[in-house]
Amino acid sequence: MSSDLSTLPSVPAAEYIAAVSQHVSSVCVITTELDGHRYGLTATAVCSVTAEPARLLVCVNKSGTTHAKLVESGRFCVNVLTEEQDKIAMIFAGMGGKDIDRFAEGHWTRLTTGAPVLSDAAAAFDCRLAEACEQSSHTVLFGDVLATAHRSGQDTLLYGARRFRQLRKVFAMHPGGPDEYL
Ligand SMILES: Cc1cc2nc3c(=O)[nH]c(=O)nc-3n(C[C@H](O)[C@H](O)[C@H](O)COP(=O)(O)O)c2cc1C
Repeated sequence: MSSDLSTLPSVPAAEYIAAVSQHVSSVCVITTELDGHRYGLTATAVCSVTAEPARLLVCVNKSGTTHAKLVESGRFCVNVLTEEQDKIAMIFAGMGGKDIDRFAEGHWTRLTTGAPVLSDAAAAFDCRLAEACEQSSHTVLFGDVLATAHRSGQDTLLYGARRFRQLRKVFAMHPGGPDEYL
């Protein structure tokens, strides 16, 4: 095996996409408000970074309309959808058309930053933009979490293998052992 990995090419995009589509994630809607207007998109590229400080990241495609608004406003909310909110996921993914009001569906409120918060989301992370790191077609937005909300017991909407999916609980079969982790 070559010891100089830096000379090796990355796999083609189609090969990468086929493999990464097997990675299942919670479906989120990333929102912001700028000059009195609300913006948002559906995203699964969301990840916790650290708990101290409370920080997460979101990867947003630069070609979308919401991208510039997120960067300019310096604030965003990550709304983790429940499995009943698949319609909201599709609307914020642009499947309802370009000209519709994406916020017409659901009840929207605010926490600290003023970014729109979906009241009955499984969880909401209200963030101040801490850092924006450009990565080819996307920008990785790091957010410092200034406020949260969550509804325990709500199963989150999932997306993987090119389908919206539901969470199915699997219990470990260790006699007397834990059936929950974390
Ligand atoms: C399940 C799912 C996950 C998505 N994840 C992301 C994501 O992580 N980042 C992103 O930039 N777009 C993602 N998209 C695409 C955007 O939601 C879509 O392009 C949307 O129309 C962008 O809206 P905008 O142009 O108004 O910003 C995803 C779409 C779907 C259906």
